[in-house]
Amino acid sequence: MNNEDLFKKVVSHCKEYGFVFPSSEIYDGLAAVYDYGQNGVELRNNIRQYWWKAMTQLQTNILGIDAAIFMHPKTWKASGHIDGFSDPMIDNKDSKKRYRADVLLEEHQEKLRAKADKEVEKARARFGESFDETMYRSTNPRVVEYLNTISHIDNTLKEGLETGNLVMIKALIEELGIVCPVSGSKNWTDVRQFNLMYSTQMSAVESGEDSLYLRPETAQGIFVNFLNVQKSGRAKIPFGIAQTGKAFRNEIVARQFIMRMKEFEQMEMQFFCKPGTELEWYAYWKEQRLKWHLALGTDKNSYRYHDHVKLAHYANAAVDIEFDFPFGFKEVEGIHSRTDFDLSKHEEFSGKKLRYFDPETNESYIPYVVETSIGLDRMFLLALCAAYQEEAVEGGEVRTVLKLHPALAPVKAAILPLVKKDGLPEMAEKIYNDLRFDFKLYIEDKDSIGKRYRRMDAIGTPFCITVDHESPANEDVTIRHRDTMEQRRVKVSELRDILAKETGMSALLQKLA
Ligand code: GAP
Repeated sequence: MNNEDLFKKVVSHCKEYGFVFPSSEIYDGLAAVYDYGQNGVELRNNIRQYWWKAMTQLQTNILGIDAAIFMHPKTWKASGHIDGFSDPMIDNKDSKKRYRADVLLEEHQEKLRAKADKEVEKARARFGESFDETMYRSTNPRVVEYLNTISHIDNTLKEGLETGNLVMIKALIEELGIVCPVSGSKNWTDVRQFNLMYSTQMSAVESGEDSLYLRPETAQGIFVNFLNVQKSGRAKIPFGIAQTGKAFRNEIVARQFIMRMKEFEQMEMQFFCKPGTELEWYAYWKEQRLKWHLALGTDKNSYRYHDHVKLAHYANAAVDIEFDFPFGFKEVEGIHSRTDFDLSKHEEFSGKKLRYFDPETNESYIPYVVETSIGLDRMFLLALCAAYQEEAVEGGEVRTVLKLHPALAPVKAAILPLVKKDGLPEMAEKIYNDLRFDFKLYIEDKDSIGKRYRRMDAIGTPFCITVDHESPANEDVTIRHRDTMEQRRVKVSELRDILAKETGMSALLQKLA
């Protein structure tokens, strides 16, 4: 299965099996907004819980909060979001479609890169063993021209964005002859900055003075509560504050399903430390966060770090954890050493001191911050892309199976009476009623057992527990493992321990300790 097929299959699987639906679909949907279905919400809750426990339960010095989505408007002035949280947009006058200018240019670069690669592959086939790729890339006139144009785009885009010279960016789009993918025309407007925050107002009367914003990140709720948590929690530096919650961004280029949405959820942690120690903590969190991902059993070659070469003015180190999605390596999480920028800005704008008094040195200072920030929806997509498999099974059939980590699986076990008679449904129900206090289970007696197994494979249920004709007399059942499809007989009395050990969060969290 190629990557494009895999992605299409994951998207349609999400709808067919109740993971993700387009928002308000009966009204033709809402671009870049999605709803989670009955299985999706369970998977999402489990990912969130894994993150939350790893942060606030395993780490002794991380405290959780849940700040409101609405915040005082000055928050966003202080954080720089009002003045600087924008994308350069351009409209095509014929199609009336709006695009991110930088994305149009990046897509053009991708095309040039693909053309250069094609030339290289043709030459490789022509020259065989003696082919020297490095030499070819630096001497073949056509390839050199493609590569020079790619770096010309990089340099001009960077200069244009850094200096705010949007005229330069429009000129570049015109110079390259980029056309609108819808109308095919080059009839472009000027490039303008477009703020990504959604605004609304506090009172019923729109006055302009009481504008509120839907938060574009959860982090600011942590910064403004820094002293509340530190004092009420008697926290000593270094310590962290963790939060999960919705964030909203008016993403114009919303693509790739739930990868880039207008309403999404973040899981963020700000770690407050003594100035001068931040790079040690940055290294610690960089390693710790990748460990969190890998503990789920995902192939480590599907991950890579992408260190930022160009840093934001307030950061002294930054890295993305990228995953090899079917559409290429993309950021799933960011780890940033943000110095004292955020707390200093809030101190300046609020007029309130946001300092930590160190009882050991009798000094007060503004702590430095290392942030870890991961998108829950991106992590959800990652888990599905990594788990989705189609396997040939006996009889020439193909089964679709989600090999999710059992602790993340929406349903932990299905209780299936082999037939709808002979007291088997009653025994299945008794087992279900006994175990449902501890586990999310499913019980079903419709259809053949084979069909029921396939449906459970498709939603990633780690175990199918079958009540057969031997079960009533022996007080035992068969338990089928999703990945191996092997079955073994176990006593009903053993089920609780098996499910707790195999599907609980505990074993997963122990890998992080
Ligand atoms: N407080 C830092 C911050 O918000 P970010 O890189 O803008 O940094 C962090 O966002 C993470 O949030 C990203 O790595 C990504 O996983 C997720 N994210 C950002 N924008 C998103 C969007 N429009 N849709 C889905 N997830 C998004």
